[in-house]
Amino acid sequence: MAFDAPHIRRQFPFFTANDALVWLDSAATAQKPETVLRAMDDFYRTTNANVHRGMYEVAERATAAYEGARDTVKKFMNARHSDEIIFTKSTTESLNLVAKSWGIAHLKKGDVIVLSILEHHSVIVPWLQMKEEAGITIEWIDCDDEGRLIMNDLKKALAGKNVKLVAVSGQSNVLGVRPPVTEIIRLAHQSGALVCIDAAQLIAHHPVDVTALDCDFLAFSGHKLYGPTGIGVLYAKREIMQTMPPFLGGGSMIEEVRRDGFTPADPPHRFEAGTPPIAEAAGLTAAIDWLAQFPWKDIEEHEKNLMRAAFETLNDIEGLHILGPKNPDDASACVSFVLKDLHPHDLADILGQEGFCLRAGHHCAEPLHKRFSVPASLRLSVGIYTTEEEIRRLGPALKKAQKILAK
Ligand SMILES: Cc1ncc(COP(=O)(O)O)c(C=O)c1O
Repeated sequence: MAFDAPHIRRQFPFFTANDALVWLDSAATAQKPETVLRAMDDFYRTTNANVHRGMYEVAERATAAYEGARDTVKKFMNARHSDEIIFTKSTTESLNLVAKSWGIAHLKKGDVIVLSILEHHSVIVPWLQMKEEAGITIEWIDCDDEGRLIMNDLKKALAGKNVKLVAVSGQSNVLGVRPPVTEIIRLAHQSGALVCIDAAQLIAHHPVDVTALDCDFLAFSGHKLYGPTGIGVLYAKREIMQTMPPFLGGGSMIEEVRRDGFTPADPPHRFEAGTPPIAEAAGLTAAIDWLAQFPWKDIEEHEKNLMRAAFETLNDIEGLHILGPKNPDDASACVSFVLKDLHPHDLADILGQEGFCLRAGHHCAEPLHKRFSVPASLRLSVGIYTTEEEIRRLGPALKKAQKILAK
């Protein structure tokens, strides 16, 4: 059966409740299919208990649901072991965990972390904090005008010998470009550096296989994968995780607590202090199971067609400039643009009044916007349920907004 976005869309209650809206902001958060909402509702109605502590049957079922989610994520990303999956609250928390646990244990003054200019603030800021706290140095990989990373910048940084980790996005949340992560991992490993992949955007649009990639860390959020907010994942190689101290202290992350100290639990529980996101884990399992019914090649082909339609629509607008890729096939699931002399916030406001939901601003990527010499942009992003017709409707709406603002 051909991939049928309108049919898929009907499985999302949000679109029934908001049938006048054109949702072009899936990069910020994706809508959730009925099955995810039902899984969370069912969990609270039938299975609600805390995990890893109750001795009674319902608590055992809650623990099984939570640990089952870990197995589901392990299979989804082809990790070697379930204990390589840590549940956090978001990509942001996962990336902070890398900097503040692995970073504190392994970095000293003069060590170098390499970041790409494409990065989201949740990659950049934790390392800037480590710069202040531990005296590390940050070096940058720039990109060309189409958003392609300048691999020579990475090679130069790695030649300096002190690079301990390279942190790079799997897919830019502004330009939609996908850096060559396989090559980056190969080069970094050759120099003895680890690699942390921010897969917040990539995860819903392309299969991720952490074993084939051989990355050391990889982070994503449930809510961009058609799952709930409040749950994130950090994949970390088992042998690396074992060298990392706890990030947060509290219940569930200890083996023993004494008056004068404590012994942490083994990973991954060492990194999951307090009551974890249990119902959210049930929702994430449902999202991953739901997505599994669609072959990745169908999702990717559908989203490629959407991006082709988006570029055609946008390139037809006078004074509109797309940031980064010229070829829509290089922009996965999102495209950002500016319109001559018009502020993206004003445009987003007028489009919003017409029912179009697009994000305006720097999209938590200020260094990248500075690289392109603009303070802000408008971003169109798509998901599995987006239709070409929605994208085509944006053209006349943008022209109308342009006319209104020109007055
Ligand atoms: C590329 C990228 N990294 C990290 C994040 C942070 O994700 P979260 O807000 O779910 O922690 C986002 C969110 O937009 C993102 O697009």
